This record gives sequence, C-alpha cells and structure tokens, in this order.
Amino acid sequence: MAILEAQDLVKIYPGGVKAVDGVGFTVEEGEIFGFLGPNGAGKTTTIRMGVTLLAPTSGRIVVDGIDVTQHPEEVRRRIGYAAQAVGVDDDLTARENLVLQGRLYGLSSRQAAAKAAELLEVIDLADAADRRAGTFSGGMRKRLDLAQALVHHPRLLFLDEPTTGLDPQNRRALWNYLRGLNESGVTIFLTTQYLEEADVLCGRLAIIDHGRIKVEGAPARLKAGLGGDMVTVTLPGEAGDGALERTRAVLAAVPGCHDVTTHDSAVTVVLEDGAAQLAGLVRALDAAQVPVARLELAEPTLDDVFLRYTGERLRVEEVKPPNLMMRRRRRS
Ligand SMILES: Nc1ncnc2c1ncn2[C@@H]1O[C@H](COP(=O)(O)OP(=O)(O)OP(=O)(O)O)[C@@H](O)[C@H]1O
Ligand SMILES: [Mg+2]
Repeated sequence: MAILEAQDLVKIYPGGVKAVDGVGFTVEEGEIFGFLGPNGAGKTTTIRMGVTLLAPTSGRIVVDGIDVTQHPEEVRRRIGYAAQAVGVDDDLTARENLVLQGRLYGLSSRQAAAKAAELLEVIDLADAADRRAGTFSGGMRKRLDLAQALVHHPRLLFLDEPTTGLDPQNRRALWNYLRGLNESGVTIFLTTQYLEEADVLCGRLAIIDHGRIKVEGAPARLKAGLGGDMVTVTLPGEAGDGALERTRAVLAAVPGCHDVTTHDSAVTVVLEDGAAQLAGLVRALDAAQVPVARLELAEPTLDDVFLRYTGERLRVEEVKPPNLMMRRRRRS
C-alpha cells in the first residue's frame, strides 16, 4: 500500500522561483525511497511540502491516504522529520533533548523517559546520554537528531540529507541505523546528494534536477537500463573543443556505441558489450589519431545514470562537519 504519494506537485516561491515543477511519485509502505539530486534541485522544498511545513502552489501530496494540506495535524502524528540542519539543543544532554521532544509530542514524563532510554540504545548513545549535546561530534549529533524524529514512533520518516557533513565512517554507521529502522517497519523517504548513499540504501530512487524528476527506479535497474558498459575517453587538457567534437563523432560511429555525452575534456559512451567491442573502439580512435590521455571501461554507476538523464555529472561539495556543528536548535 502506498504510504506517500505526490501528484503533479508544484512549488513557486514568492518572487517566482519554481523550485518544484510537477513532481509525482509513490512510496510503498516498507520502502527506503530516495531523492537524488544536486544543490538547488528542489529536494528540501519537496520534503517540506510532505511534512506539512510548506503549502504546495498546486498538486497534491498524500500521507497514508490523508491529504497533507487538508489534515496536517493527522499527518504530523504519522511522520517523523529530521531537517537538513541538525536540530538539537546544545545546552541540553542527549537524554534531555529526547525527553523534551517526547513531551512536545504529548508523551507523559515517564513515557518520554522510557522512550529516550530506548532510543539512546538504538542510536548507540547510551554511554553519552548525560553529556551536553554541544560536546558531541558531528556523527553523534546527527544520530541524536535522527532519534528526535523517532520519539512518537512514526511509520514514515522524512530525512533531508541525513549524512551530509559526516565522514565516511559515520556515514556508514548511520546507514546501518537506517537499515535497522527500516527493517523494524519504518518507511523512509530521504534526500541525498551522495551517489553511493542512494545506491546502497534506497530500494528505489528518483533523480531530481531543476525541480523535475528525470527518471525513477531501483538503482540496479537504472544502471542496467543504460544498456552496456561505460567507456570514457579523456583527452589531454590542451586538446580543445575541436578534438572533443571529433572524438565524439568517431565514437558515435563505432559499432555497439550509443549515448555519447561530452563533459569537460572527456567523452563518455555506452558500449553494448564492453569487453568484446572495446578493441574496435580503440582501433577507431587510433585510426582517427585521437590524442587519448586516458581510457576507462567500467560498469555503469548512478553517476552515469545521472549524466544520461540530466546531461551533467552530479558534483557534490563536501560540507565540513564544523559548519553543521555550529548550528543551534531551530525547531519551534
Ligand atoms: N524560501 C525560498 N524562497 C525562494 N527561493 C527558494 C526558497 N527556498 C529555496 N529556494 C530556491 O528553490 C530552489 C530549490 O531549493 P531546495 O532548497 O528545495 O533545493 P535542494 O535540492 O534541497 O538543495 P540543497 O541540496 O542545496 O539542499 C533553489 O533554486 C532555491 O534557491
Ligand atoms: Mg536541501
């Protein structure tokens, strides 16, 4: 059964920015579903409409059969939300943060204390439970933030870039918590700029760019859908646009080559049967005297899927943890 459904969702901000431009998707109960896209793609805007914080300009978003715009209170009871900026109070301990959150959601003090103790175990913060959150590392703060979104036992969890700013080790640890949560029955809708995160965590994902969904599906299907292996021919930096165009034309004429794309000083093609057809490709480059700096043959990644459907590579600027650590609680 669908637990989250968006139909033709549009958000135009005052001033005219069309941040979300006709987005539709369905998340089934039990899934981890991801929105993969670059800065400014419309991920946060979509999530904020889903969690009742922002009214759509048009279109519909429905949680568990309930229209978010019409019945926001009922929707809020069913969902948890961890925003892109960490929302923990640095002056409180981890336990106090969780108890406070539980009280805000209407738990009695005893229920809130019990829930806090349970969640501290789940997120591996039991040993640090009574330390001020201000002394925590970025990974610990993210985990605490995640736990805050869980105090009222939501069936659907919205996570806006849950691991941005974490180092790879903390990122992997958080993926494990999320998998465990999902296995315990929580459906997860997350946004990410990280290809690997989308690949390993999401059962299905949508690639979003400029407010539109470009393609949607299981990561393996999206990659297989490219129809072969990826060959990237990189030219020397000084080769120039003419050489790039010529390389493009040479590759387009090689048997088994399709979907030729150019970016920076490289040309990427899909080669239907990489291993068998590679020799022909190399001969064609050689015959045309293409100045090759590097040639790579690889199985497709989600970045290749991204390139195919958006015409660009997904470039991620790493956010340094200190930026996140300085943020103070902003929840009302
Ligand atoms: N309150 C606002 N008023 C006007 N424009 C906005 C507002 N919030 C976001 N935008 C614009 O809407 C577009 C989508 O922004 P959004 O925050 O949804 O993207 P995002 O995919 O979450 O990006 P990021 O990865 O950087 O978090 C961007 O062009 C952004 O500048
Ligand atoms: Mg965002």
